[in-house]
Amino acid sequence: RSLLVLNGPNLNLLGTREPATYGHETLADIETLCQRTAAEHDLAVEFRQTNHEGELIDWIHQARGRHAGILINPAAWTHTSVAIRDALAAVELPVIEVHLSNVHKREAFRHHSFVSPVAIGVLAGFGSNGYRLAIEHFAHLLKA
Ligand code: DQA
Repeated sequence: RSLLVLNGPNLNLLGTREPATYGHETLADIETLCQRTAAEHDLAVEFRQTNHEGELIDWIHQARGRHAGILINPAAWTHTSVAIRDALAAVELPVIEVHLSNVHKREAFRHHSFVSPVAIGVLAGFGSNGYRLAIEHFAHLLKA
């Protein structure tokens, strides 16, 4: 069984991007953490990042029938994209939304998420550990 881990815009810059907010880990470090956590539960992970909204939507469509769940950090599109929310709703796969930072203690424009209503739950503020916790929860769900 396989999980799709999707990362939105600017997350390719992790490590150097606003380290006070996002920490010093790179996206490659987070991928390693995801692969390791998934492997502990006999799950595979396909890990992707894009700065192009349409590409992310295509990947969500293609997940149907190929993946057991989607972990998504939609980054800035969290707060702007009805299209990503609709794509996630369309494929009818379990979704967990993850943010490195606690968006609720940041600017007001980060307090609203278009994605949360189609997610099982949201992890925000736990840094890369949020990705690990989300994968643990998928493992728990898929065992049941
Ligand atoms: C983010 C939070 C978003 O508000 C922001 O636009 C990001 C990253 C996070 O992981 O904390 O790019 O999703």
